[in-house]
Amino acid sequence: MALTLDKNWWRQALIYQIYPRSFKDSNGDGIGDINGIISKIDYLASLNIDAIWLFPFYPSALADGGYDVDDYRDVDPKLGTLAEFDEMLAKLHEVGIRVFVDIVPNHSSNRHEWFKEAIAAEPGSAARNRYIFRDGKGANGELPPTNWPSHFAPSAWSHESTQGGKHNQWYCHLFAPEQPDFNWDNREVEEDFLKTLKFWADRGVDGFRIDVAHALKKDLSEPLKDQHRYPGYENPLTGDDVLFDRNEVHEIYKEWRRLFDTYNPPRVAVAEAYVRPERLVHYSSPEELGQAFNFQLLEADFNAHEYRSIIDISLREAKAQGSSTTWVLGNHDQVRPATRYGLHPSVDRLRWKNSDGTTHPLDRETGVKAATAAAMLIMALPGCTYIYQGEELGLHEVLDIPEDQIQDPQYLRNHKVDKGRDGCRVPLPWTRTGSSFGFGTAHAHLPQPSWFGEKSVEAESGVAGSTLETFRTALALRKKLIAPEELTWHETSDAKVLHFSRPNGWHCITNFGRNFYDFRGVGTILHSSGPLATKGIFTLHGMATSGNDLPPATTVWLQA
Ligand code: GLC
Ligand code: CA
Repeated sequence: MALTLDKNWWRQALIYQIYPRSFKDSNGDGIGDINGIISKIDYLASLNIDAIWLFPFYPSALADGGYDVDDYRDVDPKLGTLAEFDEMLAKLHEVGIRVFVDIVPNHSSNRHEWFKEAIAAEPGSAARNRYIFRDGKGANGELPPTNWPSHFAPSAWSHESTQGGKHNQWYCHLFAPEQPDFNWDNREVEEDFLKTLKFWADRGVDGFRIDVAHALKKDLSEPLKDQHRYPGYENPLTGDDVLFDRNEVHEIYKEWRRLFDTYNPPRVAVAEAYVRPERLVHYSSPEELGQAFNFQLLEADFNAHEYRSIIDISLREAKAQGSSTTWVLGNHDQVRPATRYGLHPSVDRLRWKNSDGTTHPLDRETGVKAATAAAMLIMALPGCTYIYQGEELGLHEVLDIPEDQIQDPQYLRNHKVDKGRDGCRVPLPWTRTGSSFGFGTAHAHLPQPSWFGEKSVEAESGVAGSTLETFRTALALRKKLIAPEELTWHETSDAKVLHFSRPNGWHCITNFGRNFYDFRGVGTILHSSGPLATKGIFTLHGMATSGNDLPPATTVWLQA
């Protein structure tokens, strides 16, 4: 299946996110790697996806799972080599799968050559000016220069002595202290990232996921200002917050777009930007990155009203910019969707997760059912759908990772207020049994629970009605059914049921409620996320074509 030169291939693509360290280990060191991905290309092809997005695989000490990059133009030796990367890319392209890599422009790691130079250099030197170094406040400079908060620590400033520096300055890091922020007012930094983008695009990489795209430009005018605290991510619409979503950041992406457009087909990009929907559209405009993650469903309950309004807003905003929207139910930063939907919406998820899931019961089956119904709904919408590895198996969050095995700085650096993101990053189960359930020949770098076996690729393959086969059928159909980016809503007799169709007569109905919903007369059944029913009685698993009643937490696709 050769790749086309269609420059719009990404607009309604199905993109599968791979967390390489936890996908497949080829050499028994407990860490997933590039050769592991190569060995599973048949599996990826069996999913009928258009592209994969690779979480950072660059050399890194893993202070933040790999979002602390030592060298942007290399592969971590624990994961493989550049030659293996090229082999993987070529083989994926052969089966029609494109590749996104993750670009982390806000910060490097503290082991990056430039940061090491900066720490060794004098204040005011060119080497320090690639990062954000400042003198502290207080009589002896013993206090951080501003009140800027870090996502992983109380302050975004660390004293240089913590990194071996001898000049009594502080450096800025919006994330962990091992993730120093670049100074994006420095042309050398801008040029180095153009070089990185070109490096990967020249190798044939098709797209880029841009990490923390809203934070690169800060107000660095002197004297530095404290940040006015806004609740949540509600930064001002005027684009003049000290740290986030500043108007100037768009100059960077316009320059990137000019580079992307020199390729055929043009390289594509997707922004990770935690900003208000009205501001998100700038990142996704065709003059800039082209697309941005739409994270609204990550916060939504399994609820018809919430889904409906998010869908309407997202489609409207994207259309106004000439972009297509994205649909995301989970990623490497989120509690897995099956788990979110298996938990009563009133439960405080953070406290629950910190209790290892002991304070409230988790309805595992309902969670998987609802997450699969939601996945089939978003697959049918106009736009681009992202799936995070393991969602196609119906994996739940792993809740009981022992404290001494936690890797996530979100927990370790942040007064242990949040147990962190390891629970969705546990190595995938490929087989029913065996050490690390087929992930590798030895252990897995994060502990896998005993229930992983029954959720393995082996256990679910060929089993009608399993989450994996439900996804496979849905994704194969989706590829054939893709229609112009339009949607028509149809009225339903139950407010907890959503029904829309696409211009080619592809109908999608999702039942968010507790009653059965009669969909007689809509069209021929193509597929459903779970068994259908007749007069409230379930048909056999896999015999989806015979019922006309849509059970709770189920999606059906029909052809009118
Ligand atoms: C993004 C990533 C997250 C990482 C952070 C810092 O939000 O998704 O995993 O910790 O950026 O790079
Ligand atoms: Ca390995």
